[in-house]
Amino acid sequence: MEYTHSETIKKDQVKENKPTERIHIETIIKNQSKPRVVKKMFSSSEVAELHELNEKLPITIHNKEQNAIKKRWIQGYNEKLDKIFADRIKNEVGDFKFDTLKAEDGSDVFGLIQKCHLPLPTHTDTGFNLNDTIYKQTLVPLTPYGQTVIFKNRFYGVATFFTIDENELIKDSPNLTLNERCRKSSAHIKSGETKKFDPEIHKKYLAHEDINNLRGLEVEFIFDWSPGDMLIFDRSHLHAASSNIKNFKTGIATFLKK
Ligand SMILES: [Fe+2]
Repeated sequence: MEYTHSETIKKDQVKENKPTERIHIETIIKNQSKPRVVKKMFSSSEVAELHELNEKLPITIHNKEQNAIKKRWIQGYNEKLDKIFADRIKNEVGDFKFDTLKAEDGSDVFGLIQKCHLPLPTHTDTGFNLNDTIYKQTLVPLTPYGQTVIFKNRFYGVATFFTIDENELIKDSPNLTLNERCRKSSAHIKSGETKKFDPEIHKKYLAHEDINNLRGLEVEFIFDWSPGDMLIFDRSHLHAASSNIKNFKTGIATFLKK
């Protein structure tokens, strides 16, 4: 069994007349800003506490395809850290709601603490509900090595992995979103797109990607992982982990909406 926990399906996602396009697109675009990094958002002793919290949390998902262990940051395991985390995000991005995940008692989950052994390919974390006004996402590395590559290119559909691999695309289905799983699409490449991706950046950071799958993409920002820093960027940005991993990477990914 791949899932040790399955999220409840939100009723409004299974309505017959669900939207096929993002509803609050103007507001989403109005709220966009450049990716930025808050250096040392968490001190080294707070990073140590975040590691301890991660040890205590139950496993949510063991994704064998991505060789990743994901844990939900459920409130109540370390109330001091819960408060620090929510307060500091609010301080940076203003009013927001935590997206997607709820604990069994209905309380907000603060994000996913993910331990990945393989680099994640190009995707968006745009959620599973086109009614949602997606906002910022944050990433806090807990381990020191590697990068996250943010592309200039954006996408406003549901959470999607972008690939030109026919064997992957065949696995796509609208039903994927009902299990809070990502769709698969080649919609990131415009038809007739001929602009080749920068071969130097490909070699240095994205060797796990087929360079043809990056056609027409341009890099907006490369985030160098340093424990306790926080990367903040719009959820509409396509992004990927870099191919530079030493054994594994652990980071906290948090998804916000308005
Ligand atoms: Fe992501």
